[in-house]
Amino acid sequence: MPAKKINKIAMLGLLSASAATLAQPDLGIARYTDEGELYFPADTARWFHAGSVLGGRYAEGEAAPAFDPANPENTGVVQMEPQAWQYFMEHGEYADGTMFLLSFYASEAKSDPQLNGFVQGALQAREIHVIDKGRFTEGRGFFIYNDPAQRTSAKVPDGSDCVVCHTSEGDHDGTFVQFYPHLRDRIGN
Ligand code: HEC
Repeated sequence: MPAKKINKIAMLGLLSASAATLAQPDLGIARYTDEGELYFPADTARWFHAGSVLGGRYAEGEAAPAFDPANPENTGVVQMEPQAWQYFMEHGEYADGTMFLLSFYASEAKSDPQLNGFVQGALQAREIHVIDKGRFTEGRGFFIYNDPAQRTSAKVPDGSDCVVCHTSEGDHDGTFVQFYPHLRDRIGN
């Protein structure tokens, strides 16, 4: 069969696959205990790197001391579950079950030969944002893992600061795509 024809058939296959994804946009990858706690996903080493923040702070005003370039405290690294990433790249929207992970690492200075820069030191804490309109009344759930060894986490209760800030300040569906270069490119921000 000529290569062109094979490509056409492969394309048709892809088209019907994405139509099927549209009909069932629940990724079904997040795992919960019977009590609704989210298991920390096993394979986050394979997740897509969306963006990083040096010395970020959620607090404002007096609660937020000025950024100290000599001690930026931590580096926040945001990753996205790969199937969620693929769905978003295809559709420009999040499938139910989309998971984002924010990991906080100590910012380490004077690491030879990166003397003037900061590298990622020890893992301190992690947070997961699950977008799921079918499962959560607020359309999303936030989960905090303060100890790197923690396996499960209960959802932060409805009406939290997490939801308020994310839905009012995040550029796309409660997420901060404005800080994630490939995602903001996808939706043309
Ligand atoms: C005052 C605003 C604000 C509040 C409150 C807030 N966040 Fe965020 N969040 C951000 C910003 C800004 C980012 C972008 C990355 C960064 O700056 O660290 C972010 C990113 C995230 C991400 C990465 C995925 C995404 O949605 O963009 C997770 C996960 C996350 N936050 C969890 C939480 C949790 C859990 C809470 C509540 C305990 C919370 N956040 C409260 C501002 C906020």
